[in-house]
Amino acid sequence: MTVILGIDIGGSGIKGAPVDTATGQLLAERWRIPTPEGAKPADVTRVVKELVEHFQHGGPVGITFPGIVQHGVTLSAANVDQGWIGLDADRLFTDATGCDVHLINDADAAGLAEAKFGAGVGVPGVVMVLTFGTGIGSALINDGVLVPNTELGHLWLRDKHAESWASDRARENDDLNWKQWSKRAVTYLQHLELLFSPDLFIIGGGISKKADRWRDLVTLERSQVVPAALLNDAGIVGAALYAELEAGREKPPRPASVKAQHVEQSATRKTGTKKADPVKKATKAPAKKSK
Ligand code: BGC
Repeated sequence: MTVILGIDIGGSGIKGAPVDTATGQLLAERWRIPTPEGAKPADVTRVVKELVEHFQHGGPVGITFPGIVQHGVTLSAANVDQGWIGLDADRLFTDATGCDVHLINDADAAGLAEAKFGAGVGVPGVVMVLTFGTGIGSALINDGVLVPNTELGHLWLRDKHAESWASDRARENDDLNWKQWSKRAVTYLQHLELLFSPDLFIIGGGISKKADRWRDLVTLERSQVVPAALLNDAGIVGAALYAELEAGREKPPRPASVKAQHVEQSATRKTGTKKADPVKKATKAPAKKSK
């Protein structure tokens, strides 16, 4: 049995549990610590360390992050402190915990978990997992293999990022009833269906707990849509699966400047210097030409 600690960094809570990666079962009760105000790197790192200590864990640790994670470096921060952008967060967590840490985007982790132990089990071909919560996260999986960092919540739709229009937070902010939200979700899914033709859509995140409210309303002509099966545990389980996949592999080198500069900054910085979020930058609406 391989036991790996999975940690899920979310907007309101940071949760962890040891996972048996052969079965996807949690081997102890989840431990949750509220996300520190502003979710700054140094504060979140302290909580991650506390979770590792709580479980007295010494082996590999898988950690999710709600933004782009490329080779251990966090590259976007849509719903967390801007100080994460360009940070070698993998190194930060590794140094703080002394463990072999592996970092993955939160939706990618949920995708791996759903594909292996949840609603995607036994489904061949292209599975798209979407997590509807504060934002919208996406995971694209083909025959069990993940294409990381698809960031489809930032697809430009109706003059906005899709997540600011169709996420669970948008449902609450815009005071939508389930029928109204479902219409938005279907518009978004239809667009994704046109672009990717997945064999299955799995709907996860906060919204998956309320599946009885939208299940009959969110349907598509071509693709099957099902609620996620692992609910709150998908991030923790997927993080552990990812750490298991990566544990034997050599980590690709990071540019020296990223590593040194940002680890140091995150330990000392009080107020984050604003850096451009590449997601927002890349998907910004083109400026209107003045006549
Ligand atoms: C982020 C994604 C993340 C999703 C869900 C989005 O705003 O850009 O990386 O997966 O929120 O947390």
